[in-house]
Amino acid sequence: MRYTLMHISDLHAGPPFNPMIAEQVAHYAHELRPDLLVVSGDMVQRADFVSQWRTIKTYLATLPQPQLIVPGNHDIPLFNVFSRLFFPLRRYRRFIAQNINPVFTRPGLAVVGGCTAHGWTFDGGFLYRSQIRSIERAFAPFGPETCKVVVLHHPVINPPGIRRNREMTNADTVVRFLDQCGVELMLSGHIHVSYVGNTLDVIRDLRQGTIICQSGTTTSRRGTGREHGKNSFNVIEIDPRSIRISQHLYLQDAKRFAAVSEHVFPRRSTGAYEIPRSERVVEADLVPDK
Ligand SMILES: [Fe+2]
Ligand SMILES: [Fe+2]
Repeated sequence: MRYTLMHISDLHAGPPFNPMIAEQVAHYAHELRPDLLVVSGDMVQRADFVSQWRTIKTYLATLPQPQLIVPGNHDIPLFNVFSRLFFPLRRYRRFIAQNINPVFTRPGLAVVGGCTAHGWTFDGGFLYRSQIRSIERAFAPFGPETCKVVVLHHPVINPPGIRRNREMTNADTVVRFLDQCGVELMLSGHIHVSYVGNTLDVIRDLRQGTIICQSGTTTSRRGTGREHGKNSFNVIEIDPRSIRISQHLYLQDAKRFAAVSEHVFPRRSTGAYEIPRSERVVEADLVPDK
């Protein structure tokens, strides 16, 4: 099996939305024809305005199917406190999708989305225990040969160069859960800058760690850090041997998106992360002879 995922994020329909870039993204997506288009949240700039939801709904209809979408913090009303606290995702459900924990499976691939944006969170997201359990249940039928992918709006790692801590408030718990669950790849957004890393960067005693893949903002003018004012998305190719992530950036001079960086990771099921027994060094071998 071989699958191609296109990962876009932080579309922010509303004043920061750039229709010219959005059209380029749609064009690229149709040429690529991914097996799954992932959108990791922040569909609108302000969830209070119905016009922004209409814009994003119309735009999503121009992109290829199937799509797996999760909500972001901007998809929750800001000004209407009543809606924010009691019906935070009402408009998301009405215009985007009823299911805020979507699941996509194919032989050898399981992608599960989670909602980290809640009425009481402004910036940092959160994953409840019940949500963690439901993601765990969604992955339960699949063995190690299946590539497990989680999609959350909020990241678990604050990328280098971002001064404010913007990861999830229970990031450590989520990182340990991803590791225990054998999740090989996590896709997220929120920070508006691309980043590829590994959860072993923040917690060292994990079993194998999870590859982290963040997209910058794909269609808005809200790019930050080294992607200030820029747009990006990721193309991910998964096969039984490897996971290949290509970070795409919009190049102003060329007036098109281009792959500017590639990261290739061996799949866990190849045994690449396990040292053969014959090559393992046991502690006793390190003790000098007396
Ligand atoms: Fe955003
Ligand atoms: Fe966000």
